[in-house]
Amino acid sequence: MSRTSVTTGDPVTGSSAYPLGSSVGPDGHVIVGGCDLVAVAREFGTPAYVYAPADIRSRARAYLGALRARGIDSEVLFASKAAPLTAIYRVCREEGLSVDVASGGELHMALAAGFEPARIYMHGNNKSAAELRMAFAAGIGCIVVDSLDEIESADWLADREQDVLIRLTPGVAAPTHAFVRTGEIDSKFGFAIDGGQADEAVAAVGRSRNLRLAGFHAHLGSQIYELDTYVRAIEVLAAFCAPHEPRVMNVGGGLGIAYTSGDRPPSIAEYVDLKVDALTRCFDPLPRILLEPGRSLVGNAGVTLYTIGTVKEIPGVRTYVAVDGGMSDNLRPMLYGSEYEALIASRADRPASVTTTVAGKHCESGDILVRDVGLAEPRPGDILVTPATGAYGYAMASNYNGIPRPPVVFCDRGRATAVVRRETYADLTARDVDDG
Ligand SMILES: Cc1ncc(COP(=O)(O)O)c(C=O)c1O
Repeated sequence: MSRTSVTTGDPVTGSSAYPLGSSVGPDGHVIVGGCDLVAVAREFGTPAYVYAPADIRSRARAYLGALRARGIDSEVLFASKAAPLTAIYRVCREEGLSVDVASGGELHMALAAGFEPARIYMHGNNKSAAELRMAFAAGIGCIVVDSLDEIESADWLADREQDVLIRLTPGVAAPTHAFVRTGEIDSKFGFAIDGGQADEAVAAVGRSRNLRLAGFHAHLGSQIYELDTYVRAIEVLAAFCAPHEPRVMNVGGGLGIAYTSGDRPPSIAEYVDLKVDALTRCFDPLPRILLEPGRSLVGNAGVTLYTIGTVKEIPGVRTYVAVDGGMSDNLRPMLYGSEYEALIASRADRPASVTTTVAGKHCESGDILVRDVGLAEPRPGDILVTPATGAYGYAMASNYNGIPRPPVVFCDRGRATAVVRRETYADLTARDVDDG
């Protein structure tokens, strides 16, 4: 059976936004993880999140391999906010990653997936006392402290010595959407290096009874292609951190991915090499290096399947293709104006016949998933697939308009398995408290 590769310049899709190893079958159906997406939609319904776990595994290996090739003491943390799914935590654990959690809920899932507590790092600009207690009770490896108030409360709540990293904002503006920039001085996260806040944090940890300064953390932002930004940030960080001789430097995540076939992000190896080069230049001795990728581990591993319900042509204006999901399963287009592409999953071998706007089913005019995308003869009942929805899609899903959240299906070597079931209407009322 001959298959055309979706990932390496297929004449129809030409897209690198799909999971590695995706293809178009001889019948024109898109194949992910060895599974025909039309059959997956038939079996599990739509909308549905579909992941190829093999894609996550190979990206995890790319990170670990690039670091191993440099022969340095290092660790790769899965930034689990990108896809907080127990099954994905499990895949990352099996691949030898550590994990970053940003809440008690993410900690709960990381523990449920079997992560050794020592490999868990906890973030958050406003961790509650209950979350800190939970982290101490679990015996997690490291808390990333974010404010003077937190240093005080963590010290008070800790019942033993606890390693901490101090989160710093180096004051370097990342060239990405303002909502996902986190490294500037004017940020709700961390301590600014300029102005003495970071010095105060080091002093506060030094004065504490239970907290032990293991090192520092900084994350500039997300979906970044311009690698020079990281070099500038590492230079600023090193000028402050190196004199403290940190055991650990966590230099965050942020590597951008391809959302559409035209996107050309740097490779994982380029990104790792550049960060390691900069750190090696700036630190002697070199601390243990931590990287914290989210999107670049899971973003391209996931696609979303929808069923087209209506096709509405407004002559001379545009053609709307409405699907059975929308902003409740993918908020990114509305939140950041993010661009996606789409295909009719059963006609991926046919040329686009009409330029369309793919709209969701929510009661908002802005509920648009994909703008100006060419589709091959879209009709009601067709399965539409949007690639690159593996990061911050499921993570930000909601029940807006009372829509049950979609299931998550793993497609691996030709087998499709639900790892999260679809929500039901009963789920929507399950937490109601009878006030009678
Ligand atoms: C502290 C921290 N680390 C890592 C990440 C992961 O970023 P990305 O998904 O861009 O790799 C984030 C994302 O917001 C973050 O806030």
